[in-house]
Amino acid sequence: MSELLIKDVEKTFVETFQTEPLLIFSPGRINIIGEHTDYNDGFVFPAAVDKGIAAAIQKSDTGKSTAIALDLDSTIEFELDKLKPSKEGSWENYVFGVVAEIQNRNIVVGDFNIMFKGNIPGGAGMSSSAALENSVVYGLNELFDLGLSKHDMILISQKAEHNYVGVKCGIMDQYASMFGIENNALHLDCRSVESKPYEINFKDHQLMLINTNVKHSLSDSAYNDRRSACESISELLGVKALRDATEADLETIMNEVTPSNYQKALYVIQENERTLKAAKAIEDGDLQKLGKLIYQSHAGLSDQYKVSCEELDFLVTQAKKNKHVLGARMMGGGFGGCTINLIANTEAESFAETASKAYKQKFDKECSVYFIQLSDGTHVVK
Ligand code: GLA
Repeated sequence: MSELLIKDVEKTFVETFQTEPLLIFSPGRINIIGEHTDYNDGFVFPAAVDKGIAAAIQKSDTGKSTAIALDLDSTIEFELDKLKPSKEGSWENYVFGVVAEIQNRNIVVGDFNIMFKGNIPGGAGMSSSAALENSVVYGLNELFDLGLSKHDMILISQKAEHNYVGVKCGIMDQYASMFGIENNALHLDCRSVESKPYEINFKDHQLMLINTNVKHSLSDSAYNDRRSACESISELLGVKALRDATEADLETIMNEVTPSNYQKALYVIQENERTLKAAKAIEDGDLQKLGKLIYQSHAGLSDQYKVSCEELDFLVTQAKKNKHVLGARMMGGGFGGCTINLIANTEAESFAETASKAYKQKFDKECSVYFIQLSDGTHVVK
């Protein structure tokens, strides 16, 4: 499917700019477990997938740069020495942000034309943003020989999101999209920013996504609020990040924080533990255990961290009713997007059908089911 995407973007680029582009594919990601732990210096368990952004890029000699989002039918012309954030929610902020963060490192990029086409639905919680940022920084690095390492590039992508998009995200999405390995998930320590790959072969089980196709507003500000709540609790505890705190530590300040912030910090500490246990369960081939941890993760995200929504909770409840689904939970930042389901191969199609019907009946709208392949990270296609 991604081959078609790449062919499409190449053809349209050549028609538009009469020159052969450099082609980059940058994937989205899933996350098995470890949600909202990344900005707490904790552990996460993501993998790059076979859906993402295809970008075509080439130098421009017109004194201007152009970015074209084919899916949105939107073209933006800009000058590199006059970059500033566009209004909130504009797609071009991902491009401007990456260029500006490269320039902040006193690295000079020349004018360029870039064109994108993607197959990750926006708001699915599969990191189309990180895929887009990484495609820009990777393309510019290749095109202008900037000498940036992959680690440099993901930090640039992350800062673009902080400073131009306005979401104070962690490093999980950019890391998974950049460093993904075919058939593997990455057990990532977000403090050292180093990961251990785990080959994912669940034999008679698989991971399946169901997209609620909703994205509730205010999710960005709710995200930033969660992050600052975590940071103020770490400060109160005198630790660098919640990753360094235990449940017992947290109890010592119980009376100094609101009950709702207490639950949030407790969630983070517990989710971090679950992520370590999940790695062990995968090593042991204990899928029942992994599934339980995934269900617990959802309960925490919904009841304690309060980032789920009615649609996500409904799909997880449907999963729980089916004994062939070992685990299910919301994935990504929350307030909409996908659930990730650990399900028996033989039951995947029929559960997808039952859950879709029930969802339609309940919300009078469609959900979408994705069967995914774990794939390589951002790379040059040609
Ligand atoms: C979003 C952010 C990530 C991470 C997840 C929640 O995807 O971009 O950094 O915090 O939410 O786990």
